[in-house]
Amino acid sequence: MNITLKQLKIFEVVAETQSYTRASERLNMTQPAVSMQMRQLEENMGVSLFERQGKKIVISSIGKQVREHERNILKQLQSLENFLQNKEEQITISAATTANHFVTHMISKFSNLNPKVNIKLDITNRETLVTQLQNYAPDFVIMGEPPKKLDLVSQKIMENPLVVIASPDHPIAKERGFNKILMNEIVEMPFVVREEGSGTRAAIHTHFEQHELEFVSSYEMSSNESIKHAVVAGLGLGIVALHTIKLELEAKKLMILNVEDFPLERYWNLVSRKGKRLSTCALEFQKFILESASSYQQSYRDIMPKEIRNK
Ligand code: PGA
Repeated sequence: MNITLKQLKIFEVVAETQSYTRASERLNMTQPAVSMQMRQLEENMGVSLFERQGKKIVISSIGKQVREHERNILKQLQSLENFLQNKEEQITISAATTANHFVTHMISKFSNLNPKVNIKLDITNRETLVTQLQNYAPDFVIMGEPPKKLDLVSQKIMENPLVVIASPDHPIAKERGFNKILMNEIVEMPFVVREEGSGTRAAIHTHFEQHELEFVSSYEMSSNESIKHAVVAGLGLGIVALHTIKLELEAKKLMILNVEDFPLERYWNLVSRKGKRLSTCALEFQKFILESASSYQQSYRDIMPKEIRNK
């Protein structure tokens, strides 16, 4: 049987109006086109749906039974259309612990503009992000350096400078203020850094290695919040992403030291697996992130003390 939805919809209107002419007016079709569609429908079904009574056409008794089925089908179709119109779309995003702050801000803004999109966000460290990418798990990952071994599509979103921080009461902060400090002057001091598996930690170790210095951390913590608390408490120096310390800098609980070859210039990237099929709303999210990142970048740039910004 080659019954089409179009034929069923026309049938409903003809049955209701009992006239090809009125049905064609309502459907914005020509009268011969309507009667041809009904003839084809009758042929497809092998039944007579209408009877002529003089100038009028009336629905036959088999036509009445067909109409019940037709109405059920159109009802189902309507419910499918409603579902598609109101469905919640989901985007899955995983972000590096250090990106937590700006990612949640961006997602909140995107969600306000797209209230029907449900966002599943996982905040975790770099090591877990790499595993998730291997498994094609999230739509997007927001991370520092994308892993080289995987087939990825990666776009730079914005700068992610790492800075050396100290409590203003730390001896080196008191002695040197914003004056220049050499890397080998601080390398042996107690440092509070992120846990094994963190991208920030890996970047710090590589940076010191490139300067032929061995960096040994004294304390390891799995969140930037804990590191900041520890540094404020005077446990040691820290190296963190600039955008994580805005409030502490404003409150003068922390200061950035003017260490040679710092800030360590890094970037945040929006990463997805090559070949992963992204939904329309995921593509919209991608566009939104790329467009809005520059204003976030500027707001973080502005918190860098001018003595260090202009060095
Ligand atoms: P992390 O990652 O939060 O695991 O340190 C950040 C980064 O890769 O820059």
